[in-house]
Amino acid sequence: MVNFPSYLPNRLQQTEEEWTWLLDKMAGSESILEVGSCLGYSLWGFALRAIKGAKIRSIDMGLVGPERFDVSDILGGAIKALRQVGYDAEVLIADSHSPEAVEWAHRQGPYDFVYIDGDHSYEGVKADWENYGRLGDMVGFHDINHGHHGVRQLWTELKKQGYHTEEKVTSHQGTGLVYLDQCPTSLRSRNVISTPTAPKWRRRALT
Ligand SMILES: C[S@@+](CC[C@H](N)C(=O)[O-])C[C@H]1O[C@@H](n2cnc3c(N)ncnc32)[C@H](O)[C@@H]1O
Repeated sequence: MVNFPSYLPNRLQQTEEEWTWLLDKMAGSESILEVGSCLGYSLWGFALRAIKGAKIRSIDMGLVGPERFDVSDILGGAIKALRQVGYDAEVLIADSHSPEAVEWAHRQGPYDFVYIDGDHSYEGVKADWENYGRLGDMVGFHDINHGHHGVRQLWTELKKQGYHTEEKVTSHQGTGLVYLDQCPTSLRSRNVISTPTAPKWRRRALT
């Protein structure tokens, strides 16, 4: 039996209203990239609202919280189960800011929907947006309203920059969407970078 640390919830880490709003928006996607999957709860939710057999890609560093609890086997099991029911699912256990993760996701993109829920520091979420955002037509962010995370700052900046956004905020978390397919070309190309943005990243052996 797995002894979960108390900070790791044994349920989806999103509020129901915000979550169902997001699911309705991404429903019917044929390809999904999630940055930050933890135990795979949201990944499963997305898969069930995507088309049958959708391409599902997940990046997670596999170590969560102060104890650096290892979720890689659990997430790997979720991916295996998705494959067993017909999805084209893969996970990369790596730091999303590493060049190898960026290359992996780009090689297999683009995606209808990219969901960013990994590193919540301002520098971290900004790097994920710059490295992965442009791969999606629709890019979701969790915690756009969270006072202790940097996501709120990035979200405010994106809105100021004129991106076409939509949000559902019914809690201290908040969920936001950027529609890159509906943005002016100048903003879309601003997102194009030639080298991965990496505030800091740790290399970890892939499992
Ligand atoms: C909030 S949890 C994700 C929850 C998940 N999306 C859900 O709703 O079920 C954040 C996850 O991001 C991962 N993470 C944090 N920083 C990361 C980074 N730089 N690269 C890859 N994964 C990262 C953590 O390992 C953790 O599993």
